Amino acid sequence: MKKTLLTAVMAAAALAGAAQDSKMDEFVSSLMQKMTIEEKIGQLTLQVAGDITTGSVQSSPVTERIAAGRMGGVFNVKGAGKIRQLQDIAVKQTRLGIPLLVGMDVVHGYETIFPIPLAMSCSWDTLAIERSARIAAKEASADGINWTYSPMVDISMDARWGRVAEGSGEDPYLGSCIARAMVRGYQGDYSGKADIMACVKHFALYGAVEAGKDYNTVDMSRMRMYNRYFPPYRAAVDAGAGSFMTSFNLVDGIPATGNRWLLTDVLRKQWGFDGFVVTDYESLMEMTRHGVGDLASVSVQALKAGTDMEMCSEGFYKTLGQSLKDGRVSTDDIDRACRRVLEAKYKLGLFADPYKYCDESRHATDVYTAENRAEARELAAKTFVLLKNEGGLLPLKKQGKIALIGPLADNAANLCGTWCVAYTPERYSTLRQGLERAVGGKATVLYAQGCNLTRDAALQKAAEFGRTIPRGDDEAMKAEALRVAAGADVIVCAMGECSDMTGESSSRVDLELPDVQRELLAELLKLGKPVVLLNFSGRPTVMTWEQARVPAIMNVWFGGSEAADAICDVLFGDRVPSGKLTMTMPQAVGQIPLYYNHMSTGRPVPEGIKSYRKYQSNYLDVRNDPLYPFGYGLSYTTFKYSEPRLSADSMAVDGSVKVSVDVTNTGERDADEVVQLYIRDLVAKISRPVKELKGFSRVHIKAGETRTVEFTIVPDMLKYYDSELNYGLDAGEFTVMTGPDSRRVKGCKLTVY
Ligand code: BGC
Repeated sequence: MKKTLLTAVMAAAALAGAAQDSKMDEFVSSLMQKMTIEEKIGQLTLQVAGDITTGSVQSSPVTERIAAGRMGGVFNVKGAGKIRQLQDIAVKQTRLGIPLLVGMDVVHGYETIFPIPLAMSCSWDTLAIERSARIAAKEASADGINWTYSPMVDISMDARWGRVAEGSGEDPYLGSCIARAMVRGYQGDYSGKADIMACVKHFALYGAVEAGKDYNTVDMSRMRMYNRYFPPYRAAVDAGAGSFMTSFNLVDGIPATGNRWLLTDVLRKQWGFDGFVVTDYESLMEMTRHGVGDLASVSVQALKAGTDMEMCSEGFYKTLGQSLKDGRVSTDDIDRACRRVLEAKYKLGLFADPYKYCDESRHATDVYTAENRAEARELAAKTFVLLKNEGGLLPLKKQGKIALIGPLADNAANLCGTWCVAYTPERYSTLRQGLERAVGGKATVLYAQGCNLTRDAALQKAAEFGRTIPRGDDEAMKAEALRVAAGADVIVCAMGECSDMTGESSSRVDLELPDVQRELLAELLKLGKPVVLLNFSGRPTVMTWEQARVPAIMNVWFGGSEAADAICDVLFGDRVPSGKLTMTMPQAVGQIPLYYNHMSTGRPVPEGIKSYRKYQSNYLDVRNDPLYPFGYGLSYTTFKYSEPRLSADSMAVDGSVKVSVDVTNTGERDADEVVQLYIRDLVAKISRPVKELKGFSRVHIKAGETRTVEFTIVPDMLKYYDSELNYGLDAGEFTVMTGPDSRRVKGCKLTVY
């Protein structure tokens, strides 16, 4: 009965959708009949609104082009008032009054800044992540933005690549869950004023740049693409993402922006994507540098491949008209792209109301509100990963003298991380301010910066990218810090990377704590007092030295506008840490790429082996194990896991089986735990990973309580793409594992017949 009702509702929704589609088709077709070829090519053009970002909108090349009806969209301009003026030009001064797409990199919040995406993924809380995207959309739309260049769903296993900060880590399953959550959060159903269009990036494989060097080349088997890198992009399509952004790199030797197999065969034909594709910043023009043709040829190639809109290159704008005359592209090619851009505007409701997102009164009520900030603070606290806590040093008590030391201790802008185009750091607290507030007079906070960010001033300047941290004489700063710390009961170090040491164009080869910071930490440890290291980072840091010496280490990433309060919430135990790593933390940079779901070799070395093994797959100088594995993170309480139990020892290839595990909170604090499910396919047509995440559940467990967590194993969790790219599963043996991280798992055998 229920099912019949559901089917009827779904059928009605499908009908309504089809009716909506046919209305859209009719509208767009009739509009396109009126458009000149120049106007159509104009719709394929996106420019940064750089020269109109300050003051009010003035005449400029961008506004002139809008007025000529030859611009599809602009991006990175802030303020509903300014955007209204731009829409005014598009709507009132052009022949056909087609409104603009207005984009921005709203990547982890707008003015209320959420933790960087890598950090958010460590919460494993997809509902909270969806809410963060919702809030980002609400704030951005209140300010005139209707299109965000997010989510970034590139899988990466290379911590040298600075852009790992923007993604959800190394795992395709978790990455897919988060991709869906963010698309839902941004877009809603496009009907509300706070629903904006997502742009999934960077399609594809950008996270696999060789040697972790940004913009570098990529080359991999299709099997690896489909099994490891494609799932989050596909999940975003399934969630209804309205647009996709191409990546800078090559895919099978062809730049992604001009890769027809990628943009048409895979994205549209195999996955059913029906939105539009925009290039990355100048990636169309960069095809000329990849050596595949001049601007006119690459523009033809990109358009025919399935790119619909160009960002900043001007290849379409300047050459497509002539290419049409020369017969290198057809009117159909241009129409197809133009239609997709116009459809996006239609879906957003811009034709119905071009000023839908230009309500200037909303800023006061919707942006950086107490409610939004509370959500950001709560989520930030869930992203911190407690890596070590010897003798239960944390949480700290609000008493005595607390020395706060380090270059990240008193700087709000550097708590926010990469991509904060619209942020207002002057309103955010520094950690020092947050700490003062948290102790509320019950303890004394002593402070010293202690050292520069890095000894090398030029490196610091490049890394800061404008968000400066004061420089001083290292020796004098150290002496002051040691004097301050000597009078304290506990030392809290705020050290690590600054915001722009990760993000775009911020690849690094040395992933340890920067020189002067490590030296200061060593001196502080010699004082013999309890030391807590708060590690700020946008990537896995190599902390082998610290793990051996520092009693308590918590990775706090870049927690956003509310990071200071959130850190204090966890530091003093008002909240219990529950974040778990979504990228493996190596013992040494030379191990990279190091990831939990690797293949077996023919000469495998089991985890936990203490010494080198000749003629086995290992290094002479470092064991294979990570320092902290994927999924790892401590709590202020402890959990005990039972062996996993299957509802049946076997399942049919089209059947299902349940696996359950009892998790007991054996400590004294109520807390959240992220329970993880991994599966290994023991014998298959191709070599399969030693384990793969296939489920997780964030559960709240009271002290002393036991909760049974259950997962249903369905065939899809056992399927993979083989070398012919057939998707399927093999009957045979599987190991089903549950545990608190990817290392400490307990397994049982499942037979599939
Ligand atoms: C980045 C994109 C970003 C775009 C627009 C590019 O450099 O790679 O991620 O969306 O700029 O700002």
